[in-house]
Amino acid sequence: LSIAAVGTAAFSYQYLEPNVLYEPSPVVNAGKPDRYPLDSVTLDVNSGIYIIHSQEGYFSLSAVCTHLGCLTAWKPEQGIIACPCHGSKFYVQAQDHHNPGDKIEGPAPKPLPWKRMWVNDDGELLVDRSTDISAMQFVRV
Ligand code: FES
Repeated sequence: LSIAAVGTAAFSYQYLEPNVLYEPSPVVNAGKPDRYPLDSVTLDVNSGIYIIHSQEGYFSLSAVCTHLGCLTAWKPEQGIIACPCHGSKFYVQAQDHHNPGDKIEGPAPKPLPWKRMWVNDDGELLVDRSTDISAMQFVRV
């Protein structure tokens, strides 16, 4: 009987323990800018962001499709970002009055958001995935 009681107590304790999820920091260290050649689009699969080095400077776009949340992909042969799930496509370069991140076609209801990017004291690019900014705010280093 006492063994059963101990078992029950252990189970209850586990059950009552708060089930806290520790979220990883929203800030991503993308490393030194020279990792990203001019006119390159780099997907960081783990953090779900693109680091883009354009003629105007560096910027970061969310890589998560605004339709149903699939991870998008860079298509260098077409020069666009495309979602494999339902075919949404997004600009990477500003063109035809569109900003990078704007939708070209598909069911995505919104552009891919720009994420806040800055350079830290060590000269590394940091991106805050939790903070969207308005488009066309480039980081120049
Ligand atoms: Fe990207 Fe549907 S999740 S188009």
